[in-house]
Amino acid sequence: MRLAIVAAALLAAMGGARAETCNRQVFEHCRACHALTNDAGQKPGPQLAGVIGRPVAGDPAFDYSPVLQAARAKGEVWTRDRLDAYLTDPQEVYAGTWMGSPPIRDAKQRADILCVLGGQ
Ligand code: HEC
Repeated sequence: MRLAIVAAALLAAMGGARAETCNRQVFEHCRACHALTNDAGQKPGPQLAGVIGRPVAGDPAFDYSPVLQAARAKGEVWTRDRLDAYLTDPQEVYAGTWMGSPPIRDAKQRADILCVLGGQ
């Protein structure tokens, strides 16, 4: 009985901690086009599971723009810094990218998104 209570308290604490770790609100907007798993079916954008540290244009099921394919061919990888810059202004980093999402100038919002993406 006591063990069950401890386990329940532990689960509650873990659940709370996870909810606090990342503010997922800003990422909701990305979800229209991106999934965080590769079994989510067809979306307008590539899936982003483990995107930090992944090669640019790294979803084999997605047909990327020429500029992202060229970046991949050069061996470029999504570091946190590259991702932060891309989110700040996608066209500034990869002119001609097909991602039609508006620039995110707010550093706090980008940090929230990187938190969600890094947590996979
Ligand atoms: C309107 C649809 C749309 C929205 C909204 C959108 N994206 Fe994208 N995203 C795309 C498309 C399409 C691509 C592929 C771009 C290309 O091929 O040039 C892409 C590419 C990316 C990539 C590169 C992935 C890879 O495999 O190289 C990242 C990272 C990314 N988006 C993150 C985000 C984040 C974070 C958000 C929310 C702030 C977001 N996107 C919002 C459509 C969208």
